[in-house]
Amino acid sequence: METLFIGKSLLFLTEVESTNTYAMGLLRNVNVTEGTIVHTDHQTKGRGQRGAAWNSEYASNLTLSVVLKPQFLSAGKAFYLSKISALALYDVMAEILPQGQYDIKVKWPNDILVNSKKIAGILIENNFQQDHIQHAVIGIGLNVNQQEFAGLENKATSLLKLTGRQFNRQAVLERLCVHLEKWYLRLREGRQENITLRYLENLYGYQQILPFRDARDYPFSACVTGVSENGNLRLSLAGGVIQEFDIKEVKFEL
Ligand code: BTN
Repeated sequence: METLFIGKSLLFLTEVESTNTYAMGLLRNVNVTEGTIVHTDHQTKGRGQRGAAWNSEYASNLTLSVVLKPQFLSAGKAFYLSKISALALYDVMAEILPQGQYDIKVKWPNDILVNSKKIAGILIENNFQQDHIQHAVIGIGLNVNQQEFAGLENKATSLLKLTGRQFNRQAVLERLCVHLEKWYLRLREGRQENITLRYLENLYGYQQILPFRDARDYPFSACVTGVSENGNLRLSLAGGVIQEFDIKEVKFEL
């Protein structure tokens, strides 16, 4: 592993409910080194955002959790972990997929889309100590060699589906560790402006008018103007009013 700490310690489980749940449990019971990765070929209760399930074909993809200890980060800035995780995945995709043929985007809060289909999702769980983050578990599901997405063909994709070839999952994992460590070190160095700039540069729908649904499933159109410090989506509504939405309050129509 060409990293300083991320992925130096790898814990592989043949089967587990959820690598995130497992990593959070480890943190409660033993001293886990920063950068430890828990990964598996089979999650029986993989979890996604908004309480959804995360299903991943057996031994085809990457389903993993990275343990970080960003004690330098105040609770109000937890969303920077979402930004750097998404940017790391973005960089892995940009490195693997030939330039110009693929449109790679970060869909708020932190889905990774390639050619408008989701290739990866991120679920971050934090432990707080006073107003600082004590531990963070960065859960990542990245579709690598999955061929079929029953019922989700229009919404989901994998590296195999995009390129027609199989990938070595260990090699993809190594590149993910390299890019995640790079972005994490930037965050630790205080380069927040650069992180936000890159996040917005790659944000799906940035400065475009898109259709949304609010918490009551009411459709509306709005322009994506950015993301607030605490991670809310900033939208410019009809009449130019800027309003912030958290993950429970808005979803993209498409
Ligand atoms: C989403 O897009 O909704 C987030 C998906 C996150 C899935 C990963 S797979 C590894 C880790 N363990 C989980 O239970 N979830 C995350």
